[in-house]
Amino acid sequence: MIGYAFCGSFCTHKQSLDKLTALKSDGYDILPIMSENVYTTDTRFGKACDLINKVEDITKSKVIHTIVEAEPLGPRVKLDALVIAPCTGNTLAKIARGITDTPVTMAAKAHLRSDRPTVIALCSNDALSANLQNISILLERKNVFFVPMKQDDPKNKPHSLVCDFSQLEETLKLALVGKQLQPLFK
Ligand SMILES: Cc1cc2nc3c(=O)[nH]c(=O)nc-3n(C[C@H](O)[C@H](O)[C@H](O)COP(=O)(O)O)c2cc1C
Repeated sequence: MIGYAFCGSFCTHKQSLDKLTALKSDGYDILPIMSENVYTTDTRFGKACDLINKVEDITKSKVIHTIVEAEPLGPRVKLDALVIAPCTGNTLAKIARGITDTPVTMAAKAHLRSDRPTVIALCSNDALSANLQNISILLERKNVFFVPMKQDDPKNKPHSLVCDFSQLEETLKLALVGKQLQPLFK
């Protein structure tokens, strides 16, 4: 079973939903997880309840959305991999620095304890500024893999990186055998 976590990069939820659908139809059994922000926030990109309904419909499973629900996802519920798609700069920084105060960071902490792969699909406007150090910290961490990333708009958003969602499944497949898909930066 794969854990699949959504963080608050609201503009990329549609792309992530498409990948979730594809993974499900490729036969993955999926346990959905959401950060509190995703589970409770309506934005111009959509309503939280609509996203929750879609995710539960695709996965046929209730969304894990509290720290208490996420805590067993390592010691007791052993996932083959945890995918965080999208991963915000906020959640990336917390995982890099050992901060565990959301369902997604709890899931990552619990899962990484059991030495299994975590795949990060980063989408962040501060990836090449405040979060650059945190990317390098996680690149050196065992069992953490990144979906290949690129600068989506270097002129207008010079600090932004977004992952290539079309490479998510390939990244996951390689992560399951302990390898990072290359090239990491496109
Ligand atoms: C409409 C909207 C879009 C956002 N898009 C992004 C984004 O693409 N990447 C990012 O890192 N943060 C983005 N944020 C900020 C995060 O939602 C914010 O840092 C939040 O605390 C993340 O919480 P989480 O990581 O627990 O989901 C956005 C916020 C809003 C309201």
